[in-house]
Amino acid sequence: METLFSLFRRKVSEAIQKSLALTADEATADVAPCAQEAFGHYQCNSALRLAGITKQKPRDIAHKIVDAFDSSLCSKVEIAGPGFINFTISPEFLSYQLQEMLSDPHLGAPLPAQRSRVIVEFSSPNVAKELHVGHIRSTIIGDCIARLFEFLGQDVLRLNHIGDWGTQFGMLITYMYSHAPQVLSGEEPTTLDALMGWYRAAKRQFDDDPQFKKKAQQEVVRLQAGEKGSLQAWKLICDVSRRGFSAIYDLLGVSIIERGESFYNSMLKQVVEEFEKKGLVTISDGARCVFLEGFKNREGELLPLMIQKSDGGYNYDTTDLAAIYHRIYVEKADRIIVITDIGQALHFQMIFAAAQKIGWLNPAKIRVDHVGFGLVLGADGKKFKTRSGETERLIDLLTEAVDRARRIVIERLPNASPQEIAHLAHVLGTGAVKYSDLSACRTKDYTFSYERMLRFEGNTAVFLLYAYVRIQGIQRKVRADLSAVIKQHRIALQHPTEITLGLHLRRFGEILEMITQDLMPNHLTEYLYELAEKFNAFFRDCRVEGSSEEMSRLLLCELTARVLRQGLEILGLKTVDRM
Ligand code: ARG
Repeated sequence: METLFSLFRRKVSEAIQKSLALTADEATADVAPCAQEAFGHYQCNSALRLAGITKQKPRDIAHKIVDAFDSSLCSKVEIAGPGFINFTISPEFLSYQLQEMLSDPHLGAPLPAQRSRVIVEFSSPNVAKELHVGHIRSTIIGDCIARLFEFLGQDVLRLNHIGDWGTQFGMLITYMYSHAPQVLSGEEPTTLDALMGWYRAAKRQFDDDPQFKKKAQQEVVRLQAGEKGSLQAWKLICDVSRRGFSAIYDLLGVSIIERGESFYNSMLKQVVEEFEKKGLVTISDGARCVFLEGFKNREGELLPLMIQKSDGGYNYDTTDLAAIYHRIYVEKADRIIVITDIGQALHFQMIFAAAQKIGWLNPAKIRVDHVGFGLVLGADGKKFKTRSGETERLIDLLTEAVDRARRIVIERLPNASPQEIAHLAHVLGTGAVKYSDLSACRTKDYTFSYERMLRFEGNTAVFLLYAYVRIQGIQRKVRADLSAVIKQHRIALQHPTEITLGLHLRRFGEILEMITQDLMPNHLTEYLYELAEKFNAFFRDCRVEGSSEEMSRLLLCELTARVLRQGLEILGLKTVDRM
């Protein structure tokens, strides 16, 4: 369905075109939601602009537009001041719109005329290192953005750009050869925890022991040459990490395709050659660099994008250039979205600029976005740590949230079965972590608090899930066959809180469309929070069960439940039927 906003703009534009005999371009109306509902729902401010084109008085123009406007949409159209037009949508028209939403699986969201291929790269942890609380943001935000585009009918490719290649493997493998040979030979199983311990020890020895350092560097050469033993060790390390990562994705219900840095290995040489061929490479201190206009340091000197180190090795920059090439030419992306901490914003701006400069990326055809996010802070305002002072492991953090949710569930539903308790605790616990992350403005630092995220009041997952459960309760009480009610009855809005709720419901698609542009999931959490509040106001003012409007109100409840459930699903949350 077309959004209400776009429908209004179209109708007003048509009225302008008809009444003033203008071209479609000239007639495109400036329509905006009214700042205050007392004035109306939408406002058109075009009369002043059109006065210049038509040489007529703005108020006369406004009258002509109003006369030509489709009057069935509004209960009131008023001209104010020098020629502003305020439109108040009629309850009948809104009721009709909501009824249409009930039979639309996309709940009023506009679908694209043509499916486009959207690549969403997110999560992207590093092998042999635990996913930490910073990666949680990438995982949660990325999954939400991918879900949004999937819901809107796009062809989405979810990619996990795991850090699975690089010089760190040389030192880790060398260290494990002498400290855990049975693991490397595959005789003894191991865990991600053990791997991380070896990684830290290897790093220490690498820094302190020149002989070890040399051995580690030789190991890198062997690995890059594809030597069998080294490759086997590398694969084993990746497998162990992969199992650790999967456990977290399973817990969060996130699906993603692994396509780590190593995937692009075979393309790196060609990337450098292409840049060389186009004359874009400058040698600086023996390294091959690309300098791009507009990227300067504080001293005003151009910053390099280093695509080949002086020792001939490739790096993070080279890999990301190969990745963008592959995504454009092989994956045929129409849009590329990369989610990482905001600290990498400059890196990606440079990658995008380089891809444009060499002619791979045409920004008129392909949109690229780096979606940055801030740090996760503890209650003390410092970087989030465990009580023991270590960086919080993601799996512990999620387990803790689920444990706390379990205690709340047991208190509220003492007679629930162990299965139900486990299920509710999982939905509430992981849902609370996701929702609280997504409801924060992503570009700012975000303060993590179990207490706050599990509150029943305020903008929390629990509050929304509770509103959903409440609607289920109403529906159970009325005991009507909903699909029959949808066929036989119609929504007829009357009470002001009903109309306010109805208008908000109809805006769902508009909100989703907005997020496809600025990629800020907090618009959706705010929308859903307001929806729950508007629903509560409606439920306070309007009786459902046994009233003469019972069937219409039941339908309004059903639509609210559907929008809530769908909205939560886009955020990556599941709903429950009781709580
Ligand atoms: N592995 C990196 C990290 O943990 C993030 C990768 C981001 N994606 C990319 N295409 N460079 O910081």
